[in-house]
Amino acid sequence: MTDQVEAVMKLLNVDSPDVRFVGIHGMGGIGKTTLAKLVFNELSCRFEYCSFINDIRELSKGEPTKLQTKLLVDLLCKFPSVSDNEDGVKKIREMLRTKKVLLVLDDVDHTEQIDRLADNSSWFGSGSRIIITTRDKSTIERDPSRKIMQFEMMEMNYYQALQLFSKQAFKEDFPPTDYLDLSKEVISVVGKLPLALEIIGSHLHGKQKDEWKENIRTLARIPHKNVQKKLRLSYDSLEYRSQQVFLDIACFFNNKDKTNAMYMWEACKFHPESAIDDLVSMSLIKIIDHETFWMHDQLRDLGREIVCLENFIDFGKRSRLWEHKEAIAMLKRREVKWL
Ligand SMILES: Nc1ncnc2c1ncn2[C@@H]1O[C@H](COP(=O)(O)OP(=O)(O)O)[C@@H](O)[C@H]1O
Ligand SMILES: [Mg+2]
Repeated sequence: MTDQVEAVMKLLNVDSPDVRFVGIHGMGGIGKTTLAKLVFNELSCRFEYCSFINDIRELSKGEPTKLQTKLLVDLLCKFPSVSDNEDGVKKIREMLRTKKVLLVLDDVDHTEQIDRLADNSSWFGSGSRIIITTRDKSTIERDPSRKIMQFEMMEMNYYQALQLFSKQAFKEDFPPTDYLDLSKEVISVVGKLPLALEIIGSHLHGKQKDEWKENIRTLARIPHKNVQKKLRLSYDSLEYRSQQVFLDIACFFNNKDKTNAMYMWEACKFHPESAIDDLVSMSLIKIIDHETFWMHDQLRDLGREIVCLENFIDFGKRSRLWEHKEAIAMLKRREVKWL
């Protein structure tokens, strides 16, 4: 990752007084957020006003002005009242025009999200830097007037991939000799995507060679690009209660405090402590600061997809509803059954 950090730093060139936008693009799970965080941590001491806005794709589904308010609160520690998008744009421009800011907009999926938060260089003070990460390159290249410099995330090299996989599968930097060939086979069927290597590595940890071979056969049947299906292998291997906890986190509790969810799962007799241990050891979730659930967006999407597939056509027949509109529509149908 050091090379990639250096390359992005070079594009940002923080010593120059202009305002710069850099867009990091690449597929989900390749390491964009990790790279943006490393760069942000390295640079933040040189900026008085800093903000790293995570997960814009998800947050922008909620209240439209929430992100604009968050940006102003993060940067200025003030709580402005933003009545609508236009008002938000006006306030951001007025308040930040003379400030040197370091801003990361992570996981953007629509160009309008940039329009509302950081439309162009005239919004920010001299020396400001805006980093955008996205899976979809077109979001950062559609509007040429914005002049976003592009950085394409490349795959890890083979040695790094083997090392990352071994860390999860063996808790060592290199596979033991008797598992070396099998490990190489896994990388050839999984690819060098860090997220997939972490998940599959954790899934194979402690398993016998026969199970490895069976998993390799299954993975080899899944097309290379279908990462979600490869990740699903790990979900499928969970026992029922852990699967339910995984789906609840994907639909409701990502980035949320764990207290209430734990009470709920205890009441459902899902043995949450052991389910959470399972999910953490399989790298399917992380617990931040001992209290907050965190799940990678690719896994959250997988969990929600699994729930959608319970009944593809009628959301009222699915086990969970996380979109407000759908939940309200269901309540209006008066068909909610409390289980
Ligand atoms: N160079 C790397 N070395 C080791 N792990 C990495 C590297 N890049 C990413 N990862 C891991 O891979 C996972 C996915 O990375 P992330 O930055 O969230 O991807 P993206 O933002 O592109 O979806 C994370 O768990 C991260 O820790
Ligand atoms: Mg990301």
